[in-house]
Amino acid sequence: MEALLLLLAFASLANARDTLTPTQPLLHNQTLLSRTQIFELGFFTPKYSNKWYLGIWFHKIPTQTPIWVANRETPLPKSSSGALIINNNGHLSLFNQTRHVIWSSNGGSASGGAKNPIVRLLDNGNLVVVESEAAKSDDPNGYFWQSYDYPSDTLLDGMKMGWDLGTGLNRKLTSWKSLSDPSMGDFVYELDRRGLPEMVLRNGSAKLFRTGPWNGFQFSGTPEVKNNSIFKPVFVSNDEELYFLSVSNDESVISRLYLSPLGEICRLTWNERVSDWIVTINVQKDMCNRYGLCGVYGICNVDEPVLCKCLNGFVPNSPDDWSRVDWSGGCRRRKDLECDKGGDDGFQKLSFVKVPDSTFSWVNKSMSLGECQVKCLKNCSCTAYANFDIKGSGSGCVLWFDDLIDLREFSAGGGQDLYVRLAASELVIAGIQDAGSKKKKRPVVVIASVTVIIGTLLIGTILWCLIERAKSRQRGEQYINREEDSAAEAQRELELPLFDFVTVETATNKFSHGNKIGEGGFGPVYKGELPNGQEIAVKRLSKNSRQGLNEFKNEVIFISKLQHRNLVRLLGCCIQREEMMLIYEYMPNKSLDSFIFDQTRSNLLSWEKRFDIINGIALGLLYLHRDSRLRIIHRDLKAANVLLDVEMNPKISDFGLARIFGGDETEANTRRVVGT
Ligand SMILES: *[C@@H]1O[C@H](CO)[C@@H](O)[C@H](O)[C@H]1NC(C)=O
Ligand SMILES: *[C@@H]1O[C@H](CO)[C@@H](O)[C@H](O)[C@H]1NC(C)=O
Ligand SMILES: *[C@@H]1O[C@H](CO)[C@@H](O)[C@H](O)[C@H]1NC(C)=O
Ligand SMILES: *[C@@H]1O[C@H](CO)[C@@H](O)[C@H](O)[C@H]1NC(C)=O
Ligand SMILES: *[C@@H]1O[C@H](CO)[C@@H](O)[C@H](O)[C@H]1NC(C)=O
Ligand SMILES: *[C@@H]1O[C@H](CO)[C@@H](O)[C@H](O)[C@H]1NC(C)=O
Repeated sequence: MEALLLLLAFASLANARDTLTPTQPLLHNQTLLSRTQIFELGFFTPKYSNKWYLGIWFHKIPTQTPIWVANRETPLPKSSSGALIINNNGHLSLFNQTRHVIWSSNGGSASGGAKNPIVRLLDNGNLVVVESEAAKSDDPNGYFWQSYDYPSDTLLDGMKMGWDLGTGLNRKLTSWKSLSDPSMGDFVYELDRRGLPEMVLRNGSAKLFRTGPWNGFQFSGTPEVKNNSIFKPVFVSNDEELYFLSVSNDESVISRLYLSPLGEICRLTWNERVSDWIVTINVQKDMCNRYGLCGVYGICNVDEPVLCKCLNGFVPNSPDDWSRVDWSGGCRRRKDLECDKGGDDGFQKLSFVKVPDSTFSWVNKSMSLGECQVKCLKNCSCTAYANFDIKGSGSGCVLWFDDLIDLREFSAGGGQDLYVRLAASELVIAGIQDAGSKKKKRPVVVIASVTVIIGTLLIGTILWCLIERAKSRQRGEQYINREEDSAAEAQRELELPLFDFVTVETATNKFSHGNKIGEGGFGPVYKGELPNGQEIAVKRLSKNSRQGLNEFKNEVIFISKLQHRNLVRLLGCCIQREEMMLIYEYMPNKSLDSFIFDQTRSNLLSWEKRFDIINGIALGLLYLHRDSRLRIIHRDLKAANVLLDVEMNPKISDFGLARIFGGDETEANTRRVVGT
């Protein structure tokens, strides 16, 4: 009896179900909710679109973020209705108003004789077709079909990207055409299993970016994608499967890998405080990640004033090697190899490099490095060799037979050793006995001044922080204990986290010269990386510019409360050990002027995008002028003070000269000339 009542109670919660059976279709006005309400499946309309798609999104996140779309190419017209139905064979079909099938789950093993199939939305965002008795079990072997096998543009932790070698299933990300159109865009990010397996981003058939092969710890070309407090990357290669996967290290953090319609790969993390997705890792953030930027036998290093140079023993193919913008012509050998003439060749060792494109390489996973060298020397068309795996003292062998392309070197902490074949006489001439040992180079700051731009915003905040610090004696924790005393009240009002000095110091590599990205009016700006992988820009107030504290005190409290998509975001501050620092989100795309006044970069901005940017700036200003609690006049608005995030959304920055007006004030006079 009790059980029956319970059953009835559940039945009445019709809207909170997580399963569909053949007798219960999902109508256009209904949704499925996963058991603990993390994910929701239903029909949605993207921003600026008038079409309907069946998709899965995070139930609790206010900005609807679809992580999977079923009918990407066959949307429903907005005013019509539709239904998702599972038939008795376990086949999912999406019907439109006139009962035509516009999408179905063909593929998978759905036809493989399910007796009593149901479809269930799991708490990990996977939509699965299972036998109803087995529905409670989470055994993937029991799935007749799963949405995880057909990713859209998003990879959640736990989702595989790569190959089922038995069935030939290739799970890959395909970008949306635009933010309002989920249909297949130009960009595909997938695991290329030829040669040394690695992840590759393509635009149509053109390679844009490769991660470098997995070296046992991480992808050798993307040292930033490593085990951190949020996730751990995993690469699995065996006889049946070859895939990449990330495993969540912190279930409380909502995070995803995303391929944007502009072809950017980034990891986004949901930030409750600002109620928005924040980019924690932007995989192709620097120029050296552009495939083949330096041409064949060229090598790229972001820490050098000129990004590209030829490998030792090679000379540029085109004569004017200085001040070149286009290096795609690459380099050629100064001396031909002597192998063909029966002479001797040797190898130059490069360290900390992302190995060249290995699509056509030869691999043996058990050979030693010594055997590898011998094997390479024996074949005159072998151009380089390396270890397959660098765990321990290294193992396995990879041989290259074609021209080496898409090499880059890291100043530290990335890549692996690579041995490049040169004529023996060249090794002598170039004096490359110790070619492997890296010279200590002074990193040169090439990054445009994100920083200068980020500017002087909120000196006041610093000041407020200072005052706050005096009140609260918090130490050794990243965030202040908010329940402390009356000071905590203001803190609560500001909702501005305090960062621990050690955290910031570690993040910026002890404020190293290599991390400095610019110099603002009030001090240097450093790039840093928090333990969770999030990139930050840290503005450090120099000690001699602490004037006018009181003047700014009030302003600070308000400015740190400003919160809008189109204003640059302050993540927190740090006041410890006589230091005052502001911590901002890092803007990988730098400022607007770096696009519109640059011949090549300006081509990246379509008129559509420009229009969006203009709109964004206007919205930011509207907020400052009208919608925020105060009227704030920026007084120094220019392209250099507009930063661009990974999706090229504009963010107004640098409020150093801003002025606050009373709500009823409509005009004011000033005797001071400010701005540019
Ligand atoms: C959903 O749509 C169906 C068919 O259009 C309609 O009969 C039903 O009343 C709607 N349900 C709700 C909750 O709006
Ligand atoms: C349903 O789909 C069929 C086939 O694609 C199409 O001919 C028909 O116009 C669609 N009906 C509606 C209402 O969209
Ligand atoms: C992608 O390819 C298209 C067509 O070939 C081209 O117009 C576009 O500029 C490319 N985009 C990028 C980012 O390479
Ligand atoms: C990965 O990082 C987390 C947190 O930083 C740590 O607890 C864990 O031990 C690390 N795991 C491995 C295998 O390094
Ligand atoms: C790889 O090298 C080992 C040791 O030299 C050898 O025994 C094995 O046959 C090689 N495998 C392939 C596929 O060449
Ligand atoms: C050298 O290697 C290439 C590519 O694997 C192969 O086609 C060629 O036959 C080899 N040459 C010799 C002499 O082994």
